[in-house]
Amino acid sequence: MSPTTKNRPKIEVFDFYQANREGKRASITSTRQVIKALKAAQDQSPETTGDFPRPTWGRGGQRRPRSLHGIGILRTRGVPTTAHTGATAYPYVAGTSLGADGLYIGRDLNGGGAFCFDPWQLYERGIISGMSMILFGQVGVGKSSLAKSFAVRLVQAGRKLSVASDKKGEWTRVVHALGGSVIQVGPGMGTRINPLDPGTRPSLNAQGEPLSDEGWAMTVRTRRMAILVTLVRILTNRELSPAEHHVLSMALDTGVQAAQTRGGIVIIPDVIDALEAAKDHPDRLVAEASSVMAMTLHRMTTGDLAGMFDGETTAHFAADAPATSIDTSALQGASPEAVRVVNACSGAWTEAMVTTSDGGQRIVVYEEGWDNISSEADLRRMVESWKLARAYGIFNVLILHKIADLDMAGDRGSKMAAMAKSLLADADVKVIYRQDRSALRVTTDELELSDRERSLLKYLDEGVGLWRLGGSSFQVKNDLTRVELGLFNTDERLVTATATERQARA
Ligand SMILES: Nc1ncnc2c1ncn2[C@@H]1O[C@H](COP(=O)(O)OP(=O)(O)OP(=O)(O)O)[C@@H](O)[C@H]1O
Ligand SMILES: [Mg+2]
Repeated sequence: MSPTTKNRPKIEVFDFYQANREGKRASITSTRQVIKALKAAQDQSPETTGDFPRPTWGRGGQRRPRSLHGIGILRTRGVPTTAHTGATAYPYVAGTSLGADGLYIGRDLNGGGAFCFDPWQLYERGIISGMSMILFGQVGVGKSSLAKSFAVRLVQAGRKLSVASDKKGEWTRVVHALGGSVIQVGPGMGTRINPLDPGTRPSLNAQGEPLSDEGWAMTVRTRRMAILVTLVRILTNRELSPAEHHVLSMALDTGVQAAQTRGGIVIIPDVIDALEAAKDHPDRLVAEASSVMAMTLHRMTTGDLAGMFDGETTAHFAADAPATSIDTSALQGASPEAVRVVNACSGAWTEAMVTTSDGGQRIVVYEEGWDNISSEADLRRMVESWKLARAYGIFNVLILHKIADLDMAGDRGSKMAAMAKSLLADADVKVIYRQDRSALRVTTDELELSDRERSLLKYLDEGVGLWRLGGSSFQVKNDLTRVELGLFNTDERLVTATATERQARA
Protein backbone atom coordinates (compact mmCIF):
# COMPACT_ATOMS: atom_id res chain seq x y z
CA MET A 1 0.00 0.00 0.00
CA SER A 2 1.51 3.34 -0.91
CA PRO A 3 1.84 6.06 1.77
CA THR A 4 -0.38 8.35 -0.21
CA THR A 5 -3.15 5.83 -0.06
CA LYS A 6 -2.51 5.07 3.59
CA ASN A 7 -2.81 8.69 4.67
CA ARG A 8 -5.86 9.44 2.62
CA PRO A 9 -8.82 10.40 4.89
CA LYS A 10 -11.53 7.76 5.16
CA ILE A 11 -14.56 8.72 3.10
CA GLU A 12 -17.98 7.55 4.24
CA VAL A 13 -19.56 5.85 1.24
CA PHE A 14 -23.34 5.88 1.29
CA ASP A 15 -24.46 2.29 0.83
CA PHE A 16 -27.63 2.86 -1.13
CA TYR A 17 -28.58 -0.81 -1.18
CA GLN A 18 -28.08 -1.19 2.54
CA ALA A 19 -30.19 1.95 3.15
CA ASN A 20 -32.92 0.64 0.94
CA ARG A 21 -32.95 -2.68 2.76
CA GLU A 22 -33.15 -0.93 6.10
CA GLY A 23 -35.87 1.38 4.85
CA LYS A 24 -37.91 -1.57 3.69
CA ARG A 25 -37.39 -3.36 6.96
CA ALA A 26 -38.45 -0.26 8.88
CA SER A 27 -41.51 0.12 6.72
CA ILE A 28 -42.54 -3.52 7.24
CA THR A 29 -41.91 -3.21 10.96
CA SER A 30 -43.98 -0.04 11.20
CA THR A 31 -46.82 -1.60 9.14
CA ARG A 32 -46.78 -4.62 11.42
CA GLN A 33 -46.88 -2.33 14.41
CA VAL A 34 -49.85 -0.45 12.99
CA ILE A 35 -51.73 -3.72 12.27
CA LYS A 36 -50.91 -4.96 15.77
CA ALA A 37 -52.15 -1.73 17.30
CA LEU A 38 -55.35 -1.84 15.25
CA LYS A 39 -55.97 -5.48 16.23
CA ALA A 40 -55.45 -4.64 19.85
CA ALA A 41 -57.84 -1.72 19.56
CA GLN A 42 -60.39 -3.95 17.79
CA ASP A 43 -60.12 -6.60 20.49
CA GLN A 44 -60.91 -4.02 23.09
CA SER A 45 -63.64 -2.33 21.15
CA PRO A 46 -67.11 -3.24 22.52
CA GLU A 47 -68.70 -3.17 19.02
CA THR A 48 -66.72 -6.11 17.76
CA THR A 49 -68.26 -8.33 20.39
CA GLY A 50 -71.72 -7.57 18.98
CA ASP A 51 -73.49 -9.16 16.02
CA PHE A 52 -70.80 -8.42 13.47
CA PRO A 53 -67.99 -10.96 13.43
CA ARG A 54 -64.53 -9.75 12.65
CA PRO A 55 -63.20 -10.55 9.19
CA THR A 56 -61.41 -13.84 9.18
CA TRP A 57 -59.46 -13.50 5.99
CA GLY A 58 -55.79 -12.69 6.02
CA ARG A 59 -53.53 -10.28 4.25
CA GLY A 60 -54.41 -11.51 0.76
CA GLY A 61 -58.04 -10.51 1.21
CA GLN A 62 -61.09 -12.73 1.21
CA ARG A 63 -60.61 -15.97 -0.69
CA ARG A 64 -63.52 -16.27 -3.05
CA PRO A 65 -63.59 -18.07 -6.38
CA ARG A 66 -62.04 -15.87 -9.02
CA SER A 67 -61.38 -13.01 -6.55
CA LEU A 68 -57.76 -12.96 -7.73
CA HIS A 69 -56.68 -13.00 -4.08
CA GLY A 70 -54.84 -15.80 -2.42
CA ILE A 71 -52.47 -18.23 -4.00
CA GLY A 72 -53.98 -18.48 -7.46
CA ILE A 73 -51.68 -17.27 -10.20
CA LEU A 74 -53.20 -15.46 -13.10
CA ARG A 75 -51.98 -16.97 -16.32
CA THR A 76 -52.58 -15.26 -19.60
CA ARG A 77 -52.62 -17.19 -22.80
CA GLY A 78 -51.28 -15.74 -25.97
CA VAL A 79 -53.04 -16.12 -29.28
CA PRO A 80 -50.60 -17.29 -31.94
CA THR A 81 -51.28 -15.46 -35.16
CA THR A 82 -49.51 -14.29 -38.25
CA ALA A 83 -48.55 -10.69 -38.84
CA HIS A 84 -50.98 -10.59 -41.73
CA THR A 85 -53.94 -11.74 -39.61
CA GLY A 86 -52.89 -9.47 -36.76
CA ALA A 87 -52.91 -6.51 -39.09
CA THR A 88 -56.45 -7.15 -40.24
CA ALA A 89 -58.11 -8.31 -36.99
CA TYR A 90 -60.05 -5.79 -34.91
CA PRO A 91 -60.52 -7.59 -31.61
CA TYR A 92 -61.96 -4.58 -29.79
CA VAL A 93 -64.71 -3.59 -32.18
CA ALA A 94 -68.08 -3.39 -30.39
CA GLY A 95 -71.58 -2.78 -31.74
CA THR A 96 -73.46 0.50 -31.53
CA SER A 97 -75.32 1.39 -28.36
CA LEU A 98 -78.60 3.17 -27.65
CA GLY A 99 -77.09 4.79 -24.59
CA ALA A 100 -78.04 4.46 -20.96
CA ASP A 101 -81.41 6.26 -21.18
CA GLY A 102 -84.37 3.99 -20.62
CA LEU A 103 -85.15 0.80 -18.79
CA TYR A 104 -82.65 -1.97 -18.38
CA ILE A 105 -83.62 -4.91 -20.58
CA GLY A 106 -80.47 -7.00 -20.42
CA ARG A 107 -76.97 -7.31 -21.79
CA ASP A 108 -75.90 -6.41 -25.29
CA LEU A 109 -73.96 -9.52 -26.29
CA ASN A 110 -72.07 -7.64 -28.99
CA GLY A 111 -70.14 -5.70 -26.39
CA GLY A 112 -72.36 -2.62 -26.09
CA GLY A 113 -72.78 -3.09 -22.30
CA ALA A 114 -76.21 -2.73 -20.74
CA PHE A 115 -79.07 -2.60 -23.23
CA CYS A 116 -81.63 0.01 -22.16
CA PHE A 117 -84.83 0.72 -24.03
CA ASP A 118 -87.55 3.34 -23.70
CA PRO A 119 -89.71 3.79 -26.83
CA TRP A 120 -90.94 7.26 -25.85
CA GLN A 121 -87.39 8.52 -25.41
CA LEU A 122 -86.26 6.87 -28.65
CA TYR A 123 -89.17 8.55 -30.41
CA GLU A 124 -88.17 11.93 -28.99
CA ARG A 125 -84.59 11.34 -30.10
CA GLY A 126 -85.82 10.51 -33.61
CA ILE A 127 -84.45 6.95 -33.54
CA ILE A 128 -87.88 5.39 -34.09
CA SER A 129 -90.91 6.96 -35.72
CA GLY A 130 -93.57 4.27 -35.13
CA MET A 131 -94.72 3.35 -31.64
CA SER A 132 -95.09 -0.38 -32.01
CA MET A 133 -93.01 -3.49 -31.64
CA ILE A 134 -93.43 -7.02 -32.97
CA LEU A 135 -91.85 -9.97 -31.20
CA PHE A 136 -91.24 -13.19 -33.14
CA GLY A 137 -89.90 -16.50 -31.88
CA GLN A 138 -90.61 -20.19 -31.69
CA VAL A 139 -92.46 -21.72 -28.75
CA GLY A 140 -90.97 -21.28 -25.28
CA VAL A 141 -87.95 -19.13 -26.14
CA GLY A 142 -88.84 -16.25 -23.84
CA LYS A 143 -91.02 -13.87 -25.89
CA SER A 144 -93.64 -13.38 -23.19
CA SER A 145 -90.95 -13.12 -20.52
CA LEU A 146 -89.37 -10.24 -22.43
CA ALA A 147 -92.71 -8.46 -22.83
CA LYS A 148 -93.50 -9.04 -19.16
CA SER A 149 -90.14 -7.84 -17.86
CA PHE A 150 -90.34 -4.77 -20.08
CA ALA A 151 -93.91 -4.04 -18.96
CA VAL A 152 -93.19 -4.61 -15.26
CA ARG A 153 -90.17 -2.30 -15.36
CA LEU A 154 -92.15 0.33 -17.27
CA VAL A 155 -94.94 0.24 -14.69
CA GLN A 156 -92.40 0.58 -11.90
CA ALA A 157 -91.10 3.64 -13.74
CA GLY A 158 -94.58 5.21 -13.74
CA ARG A 159 -96.08 4.03 -17.04
CA LYS A 160 -99.23 1.92 -17.40
CA LEU A 161 -99.92 -1.48 -18.89
CA SER A 162 -102.94 -2.94 -20.68
CA VAL A 163 -103.09 -6.49 -21.97
CA ALA A 164 -105.75 -6.44 -24.69
CA SER A 165 -106.43 -10.16 -24.67
CA ASP A 166 -104.57 -12.68 -22.54
CA LYS A 167 -105.46 -16.04 -24.05
CA LYS A 168 -103.49 -18.20 -21.62
CA GLY A 169 -104.23 -16.13 -18.52
CA GLU A 170 -100.47 -15.91 -17.94
CA TRP A 171 -100.51 -12.14 -17.32
CA THR A 172 -103.01 -12.38 -14.47
CA ARG A 173 -100.34 -12.98 -11.82
CA VAL A 174 -98.17 -10.24 -13.27
CA VAL A 175 -101.00 -7.70 -13.29
CA HIS A 176 -102.01 -8.63 -9.74
CA ALA A 177 -98.40 -8.30 -8.60
CA LEU A 178 -98.36 -4.78 -10.04
CA GLY A 179 -101.51 -3.89 -8.12
CA GLY A 180 -103.63 -3.82 -11.28
CA SER A 181 -107.06 -5.21 -12.13
CA VAL A 182 -107.90 -8.25 -14.26
CA ILE A 183 -111.19 -8.68 -16.10
CA GLN A 184 -111.99 -12.31 -16.80
CA VAL A 185 -114.19 -12.92 -19.82
CA GLY A 186 -115.58 -16.28 -20.84
CA PRO A 187 -118.63 -18.48 -20.72
CA GLY A 188 -120.02 -18.58 -17.20
CA MET A 189 -117.48 -16.14 -15.78
CA GLY A 190 -120.21 -13.69 -14.78
CA THR A 191 -118.28 -10.72 -16.19
CA ARG A 192 -119.88 -8.69 -18.93
CA ILE A 193 -118.25 -6.16 -21.22
CA ASN A 194 -120.36 -3.80 -23.28
CA PRO A 195 -118.59 -3.33 -26.62
CA LEU A 196 -120.71 -0.20 -27.17
CA ASP A 197 -119.31 1.57 -24.09
CA PRO A 198 -118.34 5.13 -24.95
CA GLY A 199 -114.83 4.73 -23.51
CA THR A 200 -112.74 7.27 -21.68
CA ARG A 201 -113.26 10.83 -22.86
CA PRO A 202 -109.95 12.58 -23.51
CA SER A 203 -109.59 16.33 -22.93
CA LEU A 204 -107.70 16.76 -26.23
CA ASN A 205 -108.33 15.33 -29.67
CA ALA A 206 -105.75 13.56 -31.83
CA GLN A 207 -104.54 16.95 -33.09
CA GLY A 208 -103.88 18.14 -29.52
CA GLU A 209 -106.80 20.61 -29.50
CA PRO A 210 -109.53 20.68 -26.80
CA LEU A 211 -112.14 18.04 -27.58
CA SER A 212 -115.62 19.54 -28.05
CA ASP A 213 -118.88 17.78 -27.10
CA GLU A 214 -119.70 17.32 -30.80
CA GLY A 215 -116.24 15.94 -31.45
CA TRP A 216 -116.64 13.45 -28.62
CA ALA A 217 -120.14 12.42 -29.74
CA MET A 218 -118.77 11.84 -33.25
CA THR A 219 -115.87 9.75 -31.92
CA VAL A 220 -118.19 7.58 -29.83
CA ARG A 221 -120.60 7.03 -32.73
CA THR A 222 -117.78 6.13 -35.10
CA ARG A 223 -116.37 3.68 -32.57
CA ARG A 224 -119.76 2.04 -31.95
CA MET A 225 -120.47 1.72 -35.63
CA ALA A 226 -116.99 0.28 -36.22
CA ILE A 227 -117.43 -2.43 -33.61
CA LEU A 228 -120.93 -3.32 -34.88
CA VAL A 229 -119.62 -3.64 -38.44
CA THR A 230 -116.67 -5.68 -37.16
CA LEU A 231 -118.97 -8.07 -35.30
CA VAL A 232 -121.22 -8.56 -38.31
CA ARG A 233 -118.18 -9.18 -40.52
CA ILE A 234 -116.92 -11.84 -38.13
CA LEU A 235 -120.31 -13.49 -37.76
CA THR A 236 -121.19 -13.48 -41.48
CA ASN A 237 -117.65 -13.85 -42.82
CA ARG A 238 -118.38 -11.31 -45.54
CA GLU A 239 -118.57 -7.57 -46.21
CA LEU A 240 -121.80 -5.70 -45.43
CA SER A 241 -124.08 -4.57 -48.23
CA PRO A 242 -124.97 -0.85 -48.37
CA ALA A 243 -128.50 -1.64 -47.14
CA GLU A 244 -127.13 -3.59 -44.16
CA HIS A 245 -124.76 -0.76 -43.31
CA HIS A 246 -127.65 1.67 -43.48
CA VAL A 247 -129.99 -0.32 -41.22
CA LEU A 248 -127.23 -0.95 -38.70
CA SER A 249 -126.54 2.77 -38.52
CA MET A 250 -130.25 3.56 -38.06
CA ALA A 251 -130.64 0.85 -35.42
CA LEU A 252 -127.67 2.21 -33.50
CA ASP A 253 -129.23 5.71 -33.33
CA THR A 254 -132.61 4.26 -32.28
CA GLY A 255 -130.88 2.09 -29.68
CA VAL A 256 -128.99 5.09 -28.25
CA GLN A 257 -132.28 7.00 -27.90
CA ALA A 258 -133.92 4.02 -26.16
CA ALA A 259 -130.98 3.77 -23.76
CA GLN A 260 -131.16 7.50 -22.99
CA THR A 261 -134.87 7.15 -22.19
CA ARG A 262 -133.98 4.28 -19.90
CA GLY A 263 -131.17 6.32 -18.40
CA GLY A 264 -128.46 3.87 -19.36
CA ILE A 265 -125.83 3.14 -22.00
CA VAL A 266 -126.77 1.54 -25.32
CA ILE A 267 -126.22 -2.21 -25.39
CA ILE A 268 -126.38 -4.77 -28.20
CA PRO A 269 -129.95 -5.91 -27.31
CA ASP A 270 -131.09 -2.26 -27.86
CA VAL A 271 -129.70 -2.43 -31.40
CA ILE A 272 -131.33 -5.82 -31.97
CA ASP A 273 -134.72 -4.44 -30.77
CA ALA A 274 -134.42 -1.54 -33.20
CA LEU A 275 -133.59 -3.95 -36.03
CA GLU A 276 -136.54 -6.18 -35.13
CA ALA A 277 -138.81 -3.14 -35.26
CA ALA A 278 -137.47 -2.21 -38.72
CA LYS A 279 -138.45 -5.63 -40.12
CA ASP A 280 -141.84 -4.14 -40.95
CA HIS A 281 -140.34 -1.13 -42.74
CA PRO A 282 -142.25 -0.27 -45.94
CA ASP A 283 -139.02 -0.30 -47.95
CA ARG A 284 -138.45 -3.97 -48.80
CA LEU A 285 -134.67 -3.59 -48.95
CA VAL A 286 -134.54 -2.03 -45.47
CA ALA A 287 -136.91 -4.65 -44.06
CA GLU A 288 -134.84 -7.51 -45.50
CA ALA A 289 -131.51 -6.08 -44.38
CA SER A 290 -132.91 -5.43 -40.87
CA SER A 291 -134.09 -8.99 -40.62
CA VAL A 292 -130.66 -10.36 -41.63
CA MET A 293 -128.80 -8.01 -39.26
CA ALA A 294 -131.12 -8.83 -36.34
CA MET A 295 -130.59 -12.55 -36.89
CA THR A 296 -126.84 -12.07 -37.13
CA LEU A 297 -126.55 -10.02 -33.95
CA HIS A 298 -128.77 -12.48 -32.05
CA ARG A 299 -125.73 -14.74 -32.09
CA MET A 300 -124.11 -12.26 -29.65
CA THR A 301 -126.76 -12.96 -27.03
CA THR A 302 -127.14 -16.72 -27.40
CA GLY A 303 -125.06 -19.91 -27.28
CA ASP A 304 -121.46 -19.75 -26.10
CA LEU A 305 -121.43 -15.94 -26.35
CA ALA A 306 -124.47 -15.45 -24.11
CA GLY A 307 -123.85 -13.34 -21.03
CA MET A 308 -120.54 -11.90 -22.21
CA PHE A 309 -121.42 -8.87 -24.34
CA ASP A 310 -125.19 -8.50 -24.13
CA GLY A 311 -125.59 -6.06 -21.29
CA GLU A 312 -123.99 -3.14 -19.49
CA THR A 313 -120.42 -3.61 -18.38
CA THR A 314 -120.12 -5.22 -14.97
CA ALA A 315 -116.36 -4.99 -14.86
CA HIS A 316 -114.80 -1.70 -13.91
CA PHE A 317 -111.98 -0.54 -16.12
CA ALA A 318 -109.72 1.18 -13.65
CA ALA A 319 -108.17 3.82 -15.89
CA ASP A 320 -105.92 4.89 -13.02
CA ALA A 321 -104.77 1.37 -12.20
CA PRO A 322 -101.13 0.76 -13.14
CA ALA A 323 -102.03 -2.39 -15.04
CA THR A 324 -105.14 -3.99 -16.52
CA SER A 325 -105.68 -7.14 -18.50
CA ILE A 326 -108.54 -9.03 -20.07
CA ASP A 327 -108.08 -12.69 -19.26
CA THR A 328 -109.80 -14.75 -21.96
CA SER A 329 -108.27 -18.09 -20.98
CA ALA A 330 -111.72 -19.46 -20.11
CA LEU A 331 -112.41 -19.47 -23.86
CA GLN A 332 -109.99 -22.31 -24.54
CA GLY A 333 -111.87 -24.87 -26.59
CA ALA A 334 -114.52 -22.37 -27.74
CA SER A 335 -115.42 -22.06 -31.44
CA PRO A 336 -113.02 -19.94 -33.56
CA GLU A 337 -115.92 -17.62 -34.29
CA ALA A 338 -116.51 -17.02 -30.57
CA VAL A 339 -112.81 -16.43 -30.01
CA ARG A 340 -112.76 -13.85 -32.80
CA VAL A 341 -115.80 -12.07 -31.39
CA VAL A 342 -114.25 -11.96 -27.93
CA ASN A 343 -110.96 -10.66 -29.34
CA ALA A 344 -112.74 -7.96 -31.30
CA CYS A 345 -114.88 -6.88 -28.35
CA SER A 346 -112.15 -6.94 -25.74
CA GLY A 347 -109.67 -5.28 -28.12
CA ALA A 348 -112.09 -2.51 -29.10
CA TRP A 349 -113.16 -2.04 -25.49
CA THR A 350 -109.59 -1.78 -24.23
CA GLU A 351 -108.80 0.60 -27.05
CA ALA A 352 -111.79 2.81 -26.21
CA MET A 353 -110.60 2.95 -22.63
CA VAL A 354 -106.94 3.65 -23.30
CA THR A 355 -107.05 6.03 -26.27
CA THR A 356 -106.80 9.14 -24.19
CA SER A 357 -103.78 11.34 -23.96
CA ASP A 358 -104.73 12.20 -20.35
CA GLY A 359 -103.96 8.73 -19.07
CA GLY A 360 -100.19 9.06 -19.44
CA GLN A 361 -97.97 6.74 -21.41
CA ARG A 362 -99.16 3.16 -21.72
CA ILE A 363 -97.97 -0.09 -23.22
CA VAL A 364 -100.65 -2.26 -24.84
CA VAL A 365 -99.76 -5.94 -25.26
CA TYR A 366 -101.36 -8.31 -27.78
CA GLU A 367 -100.31 -11.71 -26.42
CA GLU A 368 -100.43 -14.61 -28.92
CA GLY A 369 -101.31 -12.03 -31.55
CA TRP A 370 -101.71 -14.53 -34.41
CA ASP A 371 -105.34 -14.84 -33.33
CA ASN A 372 -105.89 -11.15 -33.97
CA ILE A 373 -104.10 -11.31 -37.29
CA SER A 374 -106.20 -14.19 -38.57
CA SER A 375 -109.37 -12.19 -38.06
CA GLU A 376 -109.85 -9.74 -40.88
CA ALA A 377 -112.03 -7.41 -38.84
CA ASP A 378 -109.68 -7.42 -35.90
CA LEU A 379 -106.68 -6.81 -38.12
CA ARG A 380 -108.36 -3.86 -39.77
CA ARG A 381 -109.14 -2.34 -36.38
CA MET A 382 -105.57 -2.91 -35.19
CA VAL A 383 -104.00 -1.30 -38.25
CA GLU A 384 -106.18 1.77 -37.82
CA SER A 385 -105.57 2.10 -34.10
CA TRP A 386 -101.81 1.57 -34.43
CA LYS A 387 -101.65 4.65 -36.58
CA LEU A 388 -103.11 6.67 -33.68
CA ALA A 389 -100.74 5.22 -31.07
CA ARG A 390 -98.38 8.17 -31.15
CA ALA A 391 -101.14 10.71 -30.57
CA TYR A 392 -102.30 8.90 -27.45
CA GLY A 393 -98.92 8.03 -25.96
CA ILE A 394 -99.42 4.31 -26.54
CA PHE A 395 -96.75 1.75 -27.35
CA ASN A 396 -98.10 -1.50 -28.85
CA VAL A 397 -96.43 -4.87 -28.47
CA LEU A 398 -97.61 -7.72 -30.70
CA ILE A 399 -96.32 -11.22 -29.96
CA LEU A 400 -96.21 -13.73 -32.83
CA HIS A 401 -94.40 -16.99 -33.47
CA LYS A 402 -93.15 -16.30 -36.97
CA ILE A 403 -93.56 -13.87 -39.82
CA ALA A 404 -95.64 -16.46 -41.66
CA ASP A 405 -98.32 -15.83 -39.00
CA LEU A 406 -98.97 -12.59 -40.86
CA ASP A 407 -99.98 -14.67 -43.89
CA MET A 408 -102.95 -15.95 -41.90
CA ALA A 409 -104.59 -12.64 -42.69
CA GLY A 410 -105.17 -13.54 -46.34
CA ASP A 411 -103.83 -14.95 -49.57
CA ARG A 412 -100.66 -13.54 -51.05
CA GLY A 413 -101.48 -10.31 -52.84
CA SER A 414 -104.81 -9.87 -51.07
CA LYS A 415 -105.80 -6.67 -49.32
CA MET A 416 -105.69 -8.37 -45.95
CA ALA A 417 -102.19 -9.69 -46.54
CA ALA A 418 -101.15 -6.16 -47.44
CA MET A 419 -102.66 -4.86 -44.21
CA ALA A 420 -100.83 -7.46 -42.16
CA LYS A 421 -97.59 -6.48 -43.88
CA SER A 422 -98.33 -2.85 -43.08
CA LEU A 423 -98.37 -3.82 -39.39
CA LEU A 424 -94.89 -5.20 -39.90
CA ALA A 425 -93.77 -2.06 -41.68
CA ASP A 426 -95.29 0.20 -38.98
CA ALA A 427 -93.48 -1.66 -36.22
CA ASP A 428 -90.25 0.26 -35.88
CA VAL A 429 -88.97 -2.18 -33.29
CA LYS A 430 -88.66 -5.83 -34.25
CA VAL A 431 -87.32 -8.44 -31.90
CA ILE A 432 -86.60 -11.88 -33.29
CA TYR A 433 -86.01 -14.83 -30.98
CA ARG A 434 -84.87 -18.27 -32.12
CA GLN A 435 -86.57 -19.38 -35.32
CA ASP A 436 -86.86 -22.87 -36.71
CA ARG A 437 -85.41 -23.60 -40.12
CA SER A 438 -88.76 -23.52 -41.89
CA ALA A 439 -89.47 -19.98 -40.67
CA LEU A 440 -85.96 -18.71 -41.25
CA ARG A 441 -86.13 -18.08 -44.96
CA VAL A 442 -89.25 -15.91 -44.81
CA THR A 443 -87.85 -14.04 -41.80
CA THR A 444 -84.59 -13.36 -43.62
CA ASP A 445 -86.37 -12.15 -46.75
CA GLU A 446 -88.99 -10.00 -45.04
CA LEU A 447 -86.64 -8.36 -42.56
CA GLU A 448 -83.68 -8.23 -44.95
CA LEU A 449 -81.39 -9.90 -42.45
CA SER A 450 -77.67 -10.24 -43.11
CA ASP A 451 -76.07 -13.70 -43.48
CA ARG A 452 -74.60 -13.38 -40.00
CA GLU A 453 -77.98 -12.50 -38.47
CA ARG A 454 -79.62 -15.36 -40.32
CA SER A 455 -77.16 -17.94 -39.02
CA LEU A 456 -77.43 -16.45 -35.54
CA LEU A 457 -81.20 -16.89 -35.38
CA LYS A 458 -80.94 -20.67 -35.58
CA TYR A 459 -78.92 -20.94 -32.39
CA LEU A 460 -80.07 -18.11 -30.14
CA ASP A 461 -80.34 -19.22 -26.51
CA GLU A 462 -83.46 -18.91 -24.41
CA GLY A 463 -84.02 -15.27 -23.50
CA VAL A 464 -81.70 -13.97 -26.24
CA GLY A 465 -83.15 -11.96 -29.10
CA LEU A 466 -82.03 -10.00 -32.10
CA TRP A 467 -83.37 -6.46 -31.75
CA ARG A 468 -83.72 -4.38 -34.89
CA LEU A 469 -84.44 -0.70 -34.53
CA GLY A 470 -83.29 2.58 -35.90
CA GLY A 471 -81.24 0.91 -38.65
CA SER A 472 -79.12 -1.04 -36.14
CA SER A 473 -79.34 -4.50 -34.72
CA PHE A 474 -78.46 -5.68 -31.24
CA GLN A 475 -78.12 -9.14 -29.77
CA VAL A 476 -79.62 -8.86 -26.31
CA LYS A 477 -79.88 -11.32 -23.43
CA ASN A 478 -82.96 -10.38 -21.45
CA ASP A 479 -81.96 -10.48 -17.79
CA LEU A 480 -84.64 -11.47 -15.34
CA THR A 481 -84.47 -10.98 -11.60
CA ARG A 482 -85.21 -13.91 -9.28
CA VAL A 483 -88.65 -12.48 -8.46
CA GLU A 484 -89.43 -11.91 -12.15
CA LEU A 485 -88.38 -15.46 -13.05
CA GLY A 486 -90.87 -16.86 -10.55
CA LEU A 487 -93.60 -14.50 -11.65
CA PHE A 488 -93.18 -15.09 -15.39
CA ASN A 489 -92.68 -18.84 -15.28
CA THR A 490 -94.98 -20.51 -17.77
CA ASP A 491 -94.01 -24.06 -16.81
CA GLU A 492 -96.79 -26.63 -17.00
CA ARG A 493 -96.97 -26.96 -13.24
CA LEU A 494 -97.43 -23.26 -12.67
CA VAL A 495 -99.91 -22.84 -15.48
CA THR A 496 -101.96 -25.63 -13.89
CA ALA A 497 -101.70 -23.87 -10.56
CA THR A 498 -102.96 -20.66 -12.12
CA ALA A 499 -105.86 -22.48 -13.73
CA THR A 500 -106.73 -23.95 -10.33
CA GLU A 501 -106.49 -20.51 -8.77
CA ARG A 502 -108.75 -19.18 -11.48
CA GLN A 503 -111.29 -21.92 -10.89
CA ALA A 504 -111.20 -21.27 -7.17
CA ARG A 505 -111.80 -17.57 -7.78
CA ALA A 506 -114.60 -18.31 -10.25
N1 LIG B 1 -84.56 -14.26 -20.17
C1 LIG B 1 -84.78 -15.44 -19.58
N2 LIG B 1 -83.94 -15.90 -18.63
C2 LIG B 1 -84.17 -17.09 -18.04
N3 LIG B 1 -85.22 -17.90 -18.30
C3 LIG B 1 -86.08 -17.50 -19.22
C4 LIG B 1 -85.92 -16.25 -19.91
N4 LIG B 1 -86.93 -16.11 -20.78
C5 LIG B 1 -87.70 -17.21 -20.64
N5 LIG B 1 -87.20 -18.03 -19.72
C6 LIG B 1 -87.77 -19.33 -19.31
O1 LIG B 1 -88.45 -19.89 -20.42
C7 LIG B 1 -89.79 -20.20 -20.08
C8 LIG B 1 -90.71 -19.89 -21.26
O2 LIG B 1 -90.70 -18.51 -21.48
P1 LIG B 1 -91.91 -17.74 -22.17
O3 LIG B 1 -93.22 -18.17 -21.63
O4 LIG B 1 -91.58 -16.30 -22.07
O5 LIG B 1 -91.76 -18.25 -23.66
P2 LIG B 1 -92.65 -17.87 -24.93
O6 LIG B 1 -91.70 -17.67 -26.04
O7 LIG B 1 -93.56 -16.76 -24.61
O8 LIG B 1 -93.46 -19.20 -25.15
P3 LIG B 1 -94.84 -19.41 -25.95
O9 LIG B 1 -94.51 -19.36 -27.38
O10 LIG B 1 -95.29 -20.75 -25.50
O11 LIG B 1 -95.76 -18.32 -25.53
C9 LIG B 1 -90.11 -19.35 -18.85
O12 LIG B 1 -90.99 -20.02 -18.01
C10 LIG B 1 -88.78 -19.16 -18.20
O13 LIG B 1 -88.56 -20.17 -17.24
MG1 LIG C 1 -95.67 -16.63 -24.60
